[in-house]
Amino acid sequence: MKTIVLANAKGGTGKTTVAVNLSACLALHHGKRVLGIDLDSQGNFGISYGVDPRQLTHTAFHLLTAEAPDVRAYIKEIKPNLHLIPNGTVNLNKICHFWIHYVEVRNIASPSNCDHFR
Ligand SMILES: Nc1ncnc2c1ncn2[C@@H]1O[C@H](COP(=O)(O)OP(=O)(O)OP(=O)(O)O)[C@@H](O)[C@H]1O
Ligand SMILES: [Mg+2]
Repeated sequence: MKTIVLANAKGGTGKTTVAVNLSACLALHHGKRVLGIDLDSQGNFGISYGVDPRQLTHTAFHLLTAEAPDVRAYIKEIKPNLHLIPNGTVNLNKICHFWIHYVEVRNIASPSNCDHFR
């Protein structure tokens, strides 16, 4: 399995456009099984594939923040080889709060602090 991350701190640089075209190209023209995961709170990756973010109950954000999620509930089939875990239009404050908490937990859980959890 290969993982391709399309990320750039600068906005409007074609991340979503490349994600949509690359995923479709790999799945539909090269026969690869593709799972796209939208980690952008705008939800544009899913919207490009006809997913309405307002209708979503299971988003990538929910998946990341759920306790013991069944990942299958979050995957939408777009075409037989092309699947997507879409994102809703999540409030950016929620995303920031989640990532700050996540980074804090990771820092606390670094090897030098492992005793903290024994
Ligand atoms: N190769 C290209 N040539 C010209 N225009 C492009 C190209 N790729 C993308 N664009 C256009 O640039 C704009 C920004 O593209 P896109 O939305 O994919 O960027 P993004 O990095 O996902 O933006 P955001 O940071 O808002 O998520 C869009 O209007 C898109 O149609
Ligand atoms: Mg984008």
